[in-house]
Amino acid sequence: MADLEKRLEETGVPDGHCGIGHTRWATHGAPSDTNSHPHRSGRVTVVHNGIIENYSELRAELEAQGRVFLSDTDTECVSHMIDSLYKGDPIDAIYSALEQFRGSYALGILFDDRPDTLYAVRRDSPLIVGLGEGENYIASDIPAILSRTTKYYLLETNELAVLDANGVQIYDSYRRPIEKEVFVANWDVSAAEKGGYDHFMLKEIHEQPDALRRTIQPRLAGGIEEIFRKEMPNVSDIKRIYIVACGSAMHAGMVGKHAIEKLAGVPVQVEVASEFRYQTLLFQKGDAVLLISQSGETADTLAALRIAKSCGVPTIAIVNVVGSSIAREADMVLYTWAGPEIAVATTKAYTCQVAVLLMLALRLAAARGISHAELERLAAALDSVPEVVEGLIARADEFKALAENYKDCSDLFFIGRGYDCALCWEASIKLKEVSYIHSEAYAAGELKHGTISLITDGYPVVGIATSDAHYEKTISNVEEVRARGARVMLICTEGTASKNVAHDLIEIPKVDEFIRPIAAILPLQIFAYHAACARGCDVDKPKNLAKSVTVE
Ligand code: G6P
Repeated sequence: MADLEKRLEETGVPDGHCGIGHTRWATHGAPSDTNSHPHRSGRVTVVHNGIIENYSELRAELEAQGRVFLSDTDTECVSHMIDSLYKGDPIDAIYSALEQFRGSYALGILFDDRPDTLYAVRRDSPLIVGLGEGENYIASDIPAILSRTTKYYLLETNELAVLDANGVQIYDSYRRPIEKEVFVANWDVSAAEKGGYDHFMLKEIHEQPDALRRTIQPRLAGGIEEIFRKEMPNVSDIKRIYIVACGSAMHAGMVGKHAIEKLAGVPVQVEVASEFRYQTLLFQKGDAVLLISQSGETADTLAALRIAKSCGVPTIAIVNVVGSSIAREADMVLYTWAGPEIAVATTKAYTCQVAVLLMLALRLAAARGISHAELERLAAALDSVPEVVEGLIARADEFKALAENYKDCSDLFFIGRGYDCALCWEASIKLKEVSYIHSEAYAAGELKHGTISLITDGYPVVGIATSDAHYEKTISNVEEVRARGARVMLICTEGTASKNVAHDLIEIPKVDEFIRPIAAILPLQIFAYHAACARGCDVDKPKNLAKSVTVE
């Protein structure tokens, strides 16, 4: 967008009242000017999010008709196909073309002879229609329209929207005009602006105390047995939980597994959504599938949800975006109230996901007769999380200075045991996605089975050892890498580590172990952010990544 704005300053804005644009996340064909959207073929111009899976067949068919393709994208067959079927009625041409496509799409379509009308349609990829005053919009998600309007329609699969400045008409998949419910986003417009921070990631790190307060405190207010009672009236039937998610959401699930198994005694299996969906699924009575997703639109997580539903397994979703596909399709929804998250690297949504999982652990534990006093103690610890996080954010300069020490390394290991190992995964992805420093998360005890051969003089290793039960064993692994020359940064609770155990030390407050996973990730988020800044990286928009991954 910044490049486009610059270009328009030079060339002037063209005449017209209707336009389409799209930041493409390359699936077919390298990111380049020719492969960029929109694609124009004859009288038809399109932008597309999704994948047309049968594009090569369609392309061959269209080329046989004499049509010339200019790009390597799957999308160009959409513009060609609609143009080839266009006989003066855009709706006819679009619906006929849709019959030819396999795969997923959210499409914005313009016709040369209807310069003031925009057509939009979706299957599986998200699409909303923003309702303004004398202007209307299409977008993939709410933050994109927030500065213009908070009112929007949610399009369902194969519903078609026809927009001009004065109104929007929606048609169902039988081409009948329909009335849709108008949703109003309750997100603050300022949430989609940087508000004085250099980056959204930094702003969102700072928003965590409030996000956690909103997510935790109203739920705890009614007592432990009442946590999520409205969303999940009965939890005693749950005998096993599959947690299914992608990326950081999956890492939150890994933390949740430890808490749920330890407190509630319910076995939890954590699965990457893109693998879960292709497994032989051996569901049993008492199983539940818990999907975690910030956007609520991640294609693999959504597909996993649909598979679980088709098997008749109860589905629970932890989601941030109200009204998103996963939120709408799951049987039960537990919202994280993190507010809009704009930076690609998640921070506040992740910690809120962990908080929801910890509350779920409390509720499940309460249903299984853990002593009330013990549960009250844990709930009080959880209630104090926002203040603990505030205290860690106030120490940002300390973590920034450490980032300076590690900013020039090319590879790094994170090692830990138990829930600290789960934190290693999140710390590692955070660092590599924003700073492009290659890092790996390793179970501390596993390093000696091959990987330790990589440790040489000065090789950076971050040890995470906040769990009391595993502290000594993790420190033994830290000693092992130090003996081979590693430079170690250790994260542990205050007063635990003896001097000289590591080159650099981050001490988190000795809060209840139940909430340490949230406390311990804060320094590592700030560390990753400053390492990326020090390396001159585009922190909010790391290369090759997308915030919401709506392709499989
Ligand atoms: C992308 C983002 C990650 C996120 C993952 C899952 O890869 O870059 O930060 O964890 O998708 O997204 P979700 O919206 O389902 O939580």
